[in-house]
Amino acid sequence: MKNILVTGGAGFIGSNFINHTLKERDDYFIVNLDKLTYAGNLENLKPSQDKRNYRFVKGDIVNSELVNFIFEKYRIKYVINFAAESHVDRSILGSEIFYRTNVIGTNVLLETARKFEVEKFLQVSTDEVYGSLGSSGFFTESTPLSPNSPYSSSKAAADMMALSFHHTFGLPVVVTRCSNNYGSYQFPEKLIPLMIINSLKGKPLPVYGDGLNVRDWIYVIDHNNAINLVLEKGVCGEVYNIGAGNEMPNIQIIKLILNYIKKSEDLIQYVKDRPGHDRRYAIDSSKIQSQLNWRPEFSFEDAIIKTIDWYIENKNWWERIISGEYEKYYNSQYKNR
Ligand code: NAD
Ligand code: DAU
Repeated sequence: MKNILVTGGAGFIGSNFINHTLKERDDYFIVNLDKLTYAGNLENLKPSQDKRNYRFVKGDIVNSELVNFIFEKYRIKYVINFAAESHVDRSILGSEIFYRTNVIGTNVLLETARKFEVEKFLQVSTDEVYGSLGSSGFFTESTPLSPNSPYSSSKAAADMMALSFHHTFGLPVVVTRCSNNYGSYQFPEKLIPLMIINSLKGKPLPVYGDGLNVRDWIYVIDHNNAINLVLEKGVCGEVYNIGAGNEMPNIQIIKLILNYIKKSEDLIQYVKDRPGHDRRYAIDSSKIQSQLNWRPEFSFEDAIIKTIDWYIENKNWWERIISGEYEKYYNSQYKNR
């Protein structure tokens, strides 16, 4: 058995990771430590909750006593750190919690992993640590870090701290930097689910700036397959970029969603830009492809339709979310735009 601590496993990528991995691997024992912030939802884990090789612990990665207890009790040998405050707009509204969770929380996990001599520590980072690109070029693993938002600067700090633990203490750390994910269970504050849900409800679709900012999209299962591979075969001390080569201006995705749902483009509403809005992200993932033989399996054309269909079929899931605390955030985020 591989005893793995997955943090943030009740969020979008973490819950997809657990459900997908436990479907295929009964040699993994997964302990999911999640604080259940607004973004954490145990409903996401229904397919895994009764599995004998799965445990859930509600708690904070900043709580060193709890983290120590989990490592000891479950004899943790592998860590995958998904737990984070993950939304750029929220980091602009208030940055403190981003530093607390993303930086201090990662430090607690690294110190504990060092004490318990884990076999691998995988830090889930993001392409946003590289900053913003002009109209050409790609982020490679050697692109200098130049994060622009409170969110991405906290992720860059965590990612560099993780690498420093490898350099200084020989902790077996690997870092992955992935591009924008989409898929089921993504919290509706993020572009794709927000635009799907607003289209379904006939509400305006708030497009920041000119709508021509470019993101590089990857289906969440492709990201998670890459994470499993890096956990098994990634070389310690190395960084692996993950991306599926799907660059697209925001407005193109928004129109695709409207068109599939058969709603009018009149719903598009250009609003005030995000402060410090990164213009373009594009990932060069040739390292993980050539060294670990990873390939994305899903085409954007198919997986975006699968995703829109999932939101159409799982109205109950998102209706519960948008009628709660989230409604207050939505009203304040978009009121003066
Ligand atoms: P998410 O916001 O959907 O989920 C985050 C999860 O972490 C939630 O379940 C939340 O309850 C939990 N959490 C937050 N603070 C915690 C704390 N202090 N202790 C324990 N749990 C805590 O995020 P996501 O989109 O699933 O992203 C997961 C990870 O992947 C993050 O580290 C993010 O930076 C990274 N990432 C995301 C993307 C993307 O496109 N979403 C791309 C690249 C990297
Ligand atoms: O690149 C990886 C990153 O992708 C992850 O590290 C982050 O956790 C994840 O949130 C995501 O960050 P982005 O800022 O790129 O994602 P978001 O969905 O917030 O925005 C995508 C694009 O859409 C961006 O250019 C801003 C724009 N946008 C977003 C929202 C929420 C709009 O035009 N309108 C909106 O209402």
